[in-house]
Amino acid sequence: MAASGSTDLSTTPGGHAGGKAYYVSTPIYYVNDAPHLGHAYTTVAGDVLTRWHRQRGEKVWYLTGTDEHGQKVMRTAQTNGVTPKEWADRLVETAWKPLWEHLEIANDDFIRTTQERHTHRVQEFVQDLYDKGEIYKGSYEGPYCVGCEEFKLPGDLIDGTGEYEGQKLCPIHGRPVEMLSEDNYFFRMSAYTERLLEFYAANPDFIQPASARNEVLKFVQQGLQDLSISRSTFDWGIKLPWDPAHVLYVWVDALLNYATAVGYGADQAKFDATFPADVHLVGKDILRFHAVIWPAMLMAAGLPLPGKVFAHGWLLVGGEKMSKSKLTGISPHQLTDHFGVDAYRYYFMRAIPFGQDGSFSWEDFTARYTSELANDFGNLASRVAAMVGKYFDGTLPAATADGPAEEALHAALANAVKSADSKVEQLDFQGALDDVFGFVKLVNGYLTEQEPWKVAKDTSEEGQARLATILYTAAESLRGLAVLLNPVMPATAEKLWASLGAEAHLGALPAQRVQDAGTWGQLPAGATVTKGEILFPRLEEKKDS
Ligand code: MSP
Repeated sequence: MAASGSTDLSTTPGGHAGGKAYYVSTPIYYVNDAPHLGHAYTTVAGDVLTRWHRQRGEKVWYLTGTDEHGQKVMRTAQTNGVTPKEWADRLVETAWKPLWEHLEIANDDFIRTTQERHTHRVQEFVQDLYDKGEIYKGSYEGPYCVGCEEFKLPGDLIDGTGEYEGQKLCPIHGRPVEMLSEDNYFFRMSAYTERLLEFYAANPDFIQPASARNEVLKFVQQGLQDLSISRSTFDWGIKLPWDPAHVLYVWVDALLNYATAVGYGADQAKFDATFPADVHLVGKDILRFHAVIWPAMLMAAGLPLPGKVFAHGWLLVGGEKMSKSKLTGISPHQLTDHFGVDAYRYYFMRAIPFGQDGSFSWEDFTARYTSELANDFGNLASRVAAMVGKYFDGTLPAATADGPAEEALHAALANAVKSADSKVEQLDFQGALDDVFGFVKLVNGYLTEQEPWKVAKDTSEEGQARLATILYTAAESLRGLAVLLNPVMPATAEKLWASLGAEAHLGALPAQRVQDAGTWGQLPAGATVTKGEILFPRLEEKKDS
């Protein structure tokens, strides 16, 4: 598993010295605008991943934050008549942090690139590279996309049409690039082409999925160019310590958050116990920054490289990347108001294979909500609680008559746990949820076949033992499901845990170990089962309320 293994931090991606945290990061988001579904997609995925690992009993560090320097943020602030810092403060406090709270994101830290803990350490980092001769002065002439905050290669651009006829456009933003001509400092990235290729070869899992890895390999194999790492025509950024007429290129500033947030240059013990990241989660549009520039920077500084860069796909609207600049950004609140937060977290993890593009639709969400969450899972939980209430006064009976049908479920739960665990490890959230919901279907099938409502009419001792066994089996299955679903739908899983009366006997839900979830027979007979609130109310009712 990720939290154990090699101790050679210098060469092994994801290598862990004793006690190192399983460290996962999201990109730090630009504060030029409020978050949309695309941003929330990454952050929810990271939250599911880290909650799962915490439930494995591992030490975890989950980092997110905001990217506040650069022209994009500066221009937005100017348009709104405030300073960039005022704008960033406003967006962080009114939009970004509240959304993560709303979506139940359990991040361990939130870094802002305007914080001193970041800016000072970034200056030290670049000064160190400068002193090592890794940075030199030159001049840059070429295209730049402010939307991407990226120096583009001519081959990256597309020809404009219509209002942009005759201009070169950024393929991601569909807007004209700007031509820069300014004195800049450069990082000798070209010197790292071979070392990076060797690193990718030695660490085939470093870039995932395979399509992302291939894209990066192809790019690096062409040979890297030196990277412009400063700008001198505006001042919203971190000043280069040796030449304050320049501010650091916003991407170099931003990438360093992964080091400064965990104590680089400030708290060596914390840094050693956390860095490098085991998984950098990124959208595919920012893969090269993380899989090429970031490792080259770390190599230059003599720091260990991350375990994995995982590039997920885009949420599409009308076949194109959802984006605020194209006015297609949907606020997560629009969905959570209707479907609820847990269903939201579930939907995006279940409906779209992580690593591929996916289209979101209201109809698809409604269909999955109704069939998978309300009917298959929610009804199962309420039916079982209702029957334990009706036939046993809410006290869970003991299973004394296990037969092949029960034994099949014991094995199925153990298999679902094992398989889901290994799929989460590979960031295959959809596959893990398929395993869990495959088990839900089996439990429903078991009840349909066993017909406890008919068995209940048999008042013989044997009949009652059979009824007790069926209901125990169903309740114990729900106990396993509560543990498995807790990382994805924490509020729902807590409700289920409460309705099973599990806490009094087994302790708090987050303390339950994923790897023990498949051990049968943990919920003791005698537990008080109550019919709690409906886990997934019908959507029409919610609208009316
Ligand atoms: N600030 C940089 C990241 C610096 S990390 C050192 C940045 N910010 S961003 O706000 O523009 O985007 C952040 C993330 O959101 C990226 O991973 C991007 O892929 C993701 N998404 C933005 N729109 C998206 C979709 N429509 N779908 C899925 N993810 C998308 O880039």
